[in-house]
Amino acid sequence: MKSRRVRTRAGLPVSESERVLFGGALRYDLSFTRHEMPLLRMGLWAMARQFPAMMGTVARAAWREDRCALLALLGAEVGQGVLRAFTLVATNQVLVALFAAGPTPARLRQALPALAAVAVVAVLSSLLSAVSTAASGQLEPKIERVCTARFYQGVIRVELAALEDQKVHRALDAGRFGTDSIRMMLGSSVLVLNALIGLIAAAGVLLLLHPLLVLMLFLVAAPKGWSAVLSARRQYDSRHTWIEHRRAISVITQKLTDQACAAEIRVHGAGRLLVDAYADMSRTMEREQQRLARAEAATQTVASAGSGLAALGAYGVLWLLLTGGGMPLAVAGTAVIAVRTSSAGLLALVMQFNRLYEEAMYLKDWEDACTLAERHAIPDSGDALSGPLEEVRLETVSFTYPGAASAALDKVDLTIPRGTVVALVGANGSGKSTLAKLVAGLYLPSDGRLLWNGTDTRDADREAVFGQVALLAQDFPHWPMTARANVHIGRSDQRLDQWRVERAADGADATDMITALPHGWDSLVVKGFERGTQLSGGQWQRLGGARARYREAALLVVDEPTSALDPRAEIETFRALRALTGGGTTVLLITHRLAATASADLIYVLDAGRLIEQGTHTQLMALAGGHYRSLYEIQAAQYATAAPDGSGRRDSADGEKHPKTAD
Ligand SMILES: Nc1ncnc2c1ncn2[C@@H]1O[C@H](COP(=O)(O)OP(=O)(O)OP(=O)(O)O)[C@@H](O)[C@H]1O
Ligand SMILES: [Mg+2]
Repeated sequence: MKSRRVRTRAGLPVSESERVLFGGALRYDLSFTRHEMPLLRMGLWAMARQFPAMMGTVARAAWREDRCALLALLGAEVGQGVLRAFTLVATNQVLVALFAAGPTPARLRQALPALAAVAVVAVLSSLLSAVSTAASGQLEPKIERVCTARFYQGVIRVELAALEDQKVHRALDAGRFGTDSIRMMLGSSVLVLNALIGLIAAAGVLLLLHPLLVLMLFLVAAPKGWSAVLSARRQYDSRHTWIEHRRAISVITQKLTDQACAAEIRVHGAGRLLVDAYADMSRTMEREQQRLARAEAATQTVASAGSGLAALGAYGVLWLLLTGGGMPLAVAGTAVIAVRTSSAGLLALVMQFNRLYEEAMYLKDWEDACTLAERHAIPDSGDALSGPLEEVRLETVSFTYPGAASAALDKVDLTIPRGTVVALVGANGSGKSTLAKLVAGLYLPSDGRLLWNGTDTRDADREAVFGQVALLAQDFPHWPMTARANVHIGRSDQRLDQWRVERAADGADATDMITALPHGWDSLVVKGFERGTQLSGGQWQRLGGARARYREAALLVVDEPTSALDPRAEIETFRALRALTGGGTTVLLITHRLAATASADLIYVLDAGRLIEQGTHTQLMALAGGHYRSLYEIQAAQYATAAPDGSGRRDSADGEKHPKTAD
């Protein structure tokens, strides 16, 4: 690849505000920015060489989706090119008739058939253009939809462990930006094809009239084409310089209207700093724009002068051919018309070609992402699970996150029997959430075996495993939908059942909270939309709990389900979880609230990825110097000082409406 000198933001002045706020120019480190400025690095010839491959990709996708529309589109474009050549030939005949000797009415009569042919061709050309517009209008959204759906269907099946790999994650993220590129590429390909066929048609007719006329076409077209390339690249450069400035400025201005920042903007006076920074950075941008505009004006002047000189030379050649070479005046007239129309199309060709090249890179990302998603997909087949869940067993299971230096789980052996509450306890980072995700079938062990009713999850039909699991993860999603949809999405493959939704909400102590919302179950639990409302952390946790319960799965995995709940809701949640086991549900509970684990059937204690203790609360408390016992005693000690008079007053817990004042 030919390397060019690229003018990056690094070469531009950086305002004092950018230095203070960002430590220099602000550059995104996101997948889509990788392709910025590629046009300036790539030589024109290198780009032209890639043209057939780019067209091939678009044509293949279009062929797959709607070959009739593609054929209509191609036929209409080629037809228009042929008609353009025909127009030139007919125009030549009109001119021959007009420049012939004889009285004017007779010459006009003689030109009439050719004139009529030009008119008919113009009508036909308009019809073909309409066919082309209709066909591309049919194709473009279709291939965009199919490509986008293919991408997202692939992405949602990628193994979670693969997503943890930054390289895979970035590549998949980059694929998002390629889905609309295919539509734009189709549009650009048609325009490029149209301009190319037009040029070939003009060159072909000129070649027939006189070989030297083709030379003249290129003589005039070359400087115009070159100036179009220069102009396109300069505009591209300018656009991307703008983008960086604009992004940095919008990072600041967005915060000025952000609700979450409103308090500090006022109390700390942060708003003044940001508004001043905006003005400062805008001034830098203005200077840069002025510099670019001056450079652009100079280039355009030089390019136009070159193009004028080339035209002068070309018309000189035409003059010589007319005076000395015996070329008829009509042929010269046709040549002038051909040159003028062709050079107008040239600018469009260069602009669209640049765009095509730019979009092609994003499309390549889309193709790579689709391939990668397929390579890392969760297999869609496997051994069926034998009957309803009886037990989940881990046999010396180890798990290391991709790229991590040490194992998150190290040779863990444990069993989760049906119809019990099994608690996982341990310090932050001890591996509880990781273990829960392995049990749910989201990760496969790096070593050892994880058995669902005796079936290794590596061989099992993972869809069947997922079908038996309900998960309330530590960082469960807050779906930007209605409260009802937030619950129903727990089992969205089944029809929405309001009675079941309400029962799940009852079980998660969420009913009162939801019915008190301005629009009840129809409230959007996302701000910024009509019927939108913002839920508190604890309210979200109740809604998440309702979603997990609505799934009515054999194994309920709840990871810190009460971290944001008030004390009374917390007690109620643990009681409700316990009650679920009566119906045969198995509960895997992760919590730091050890008062709740006291009633668990089994407690597993993790430390740095290792299983260090197991048993019931009573058994673990009997272990002198045990890890669980020491954690429990630390928590219990906090409460020992809570009510100094020892009366155990339960003012707020009793639902007292009036605040009490300490005396
Ligand atoms: N996605 C990840 N990629 C790499 N390492 C991870 C990832 N998630 C967790 N880890 C690491 O794995 C170890 C176990 O993490 P895990 O989230 O399972 O702990 P935990 O017991 O749930 O902690 P907490 O009580 O804070 O929720 C930690 O060292 C953590 O840094
Ligand atoms: Mg965790």
